[in-house]
Amino acid sequence: MPFIDVASTRDIPSGQAKAYVVGDREIALFNVDGTYKAIENTCPHQGGPLAEGWIDGTTVTCPWHAWCFDVTNGAMTLGGFTSVESYEVQVAGSTIRVSTEPRT
Ligand code: FES
Repeated sequence: MPFIDVASTRDIPSGQAKAYVVGDREIALFNVDGTYKAIENTCPHQGGPLAEGWIDGTTVTCPWHAWCFDVTNGAMTLGGFTSVESYEVQVAGSTIRVSTEPRT
């Protein structure tokens, strides 16, 4: 599965996230206590930017209407009737690399 360089570990402080374009997708990349997780950035409700959401541990709350997702696998944590795609992440030195294809 191809990976591409997306960011430096210096770019995302612990407990924060940023959005990046990876191929033809926009992903939200999270730093969860030094471990990096990537999910689709676009909320399936009405398109809110999940990288700008409120982060509590491994859960992100959409900034628009508060749908919540697990950043480790994209699952909705309340309700569970939808999900977002999640992506494998690799760290090589200070470089964060993200898979160009979502987990299946
Ligand atoms: S757009 Fe994310 S909860 Fe509405």
